[in-house]
Amino acid sequence: MNEVLRAIQERRSIRVFRPDPIEPEKVDAILDAGRWAPSGKNTQPWRFVVVESKEKRDELGRIVTQMDMVRSAPVTIAVLLDTRAGYDATKDAQGIGACAQNMLLAAHSLGLGACWIGRVRDEQVEGILGAKDHEELMMLIAIGYPAETPPVRERRPLAELVRRI
Ligand SMILES: Cc1cc2nc3c(=O)[nH]c(=O)nc-3n(C[C@H](O)[C@H](O)[C@H](O)COP(=O)(O)O)c2cc1C
Repeated sequence: MNEVLRAIQERRSIRVFRPDPIEPEKVDAILDAGRWAPSGKNTQPWRFVVVESKEKRDELGRIVTQMDMVRSAPVTIAVLLDTRAGYDATKDAQGIGACAQNMLLAAHSLGLGACWIGRVRDEQVEGILGAKDHEELMMLIAIGYPAETPPVRERRPLAELVRRI
């Protein structure tokens, strides 16, 4: 199996982090992986807010449900949709999903753990993030060095998922 396929299979959602800071170049590499995602008409409608100050992490941690994860993650990346850049709600969301998966895989490949936190259109969170009027929160991605090794969450066999015609 090549390293891309192995990373896809071995990546797990990590929800418990060591307190060690993340090297800034690793955060940049993760953001860059997001930037290279495919998007409909190459509109690249994603915008990123990198939450790394203790003050903002605590503020976010107070209102999102999995507060310990956000508080303990040295970095949380909020992914916002720039509605002025997008052109079709479904396709914009698909592109942003690809962007998020790129970032999860990049984090994994750098020895980091990450968890996608489904969080959409929450004005309170958007306020903390300083989102602009034309930006909508799509998800948070908590990132840090893993302090857990979660078991594999099984996937359905291909035979259940695929029809060939
Ligand atoms: C759209 C989406 C929303 C998710 N939201 C959350 C969430 O709010 N909290 C959480 O702990 N995990 C969340 N996850 C992570 C999933 O629970 C996880 O990917 C799934 O259980 C499979 O586990 P694995 O990533 O370790 O393979 C989300 C994943 C996706 C794709």
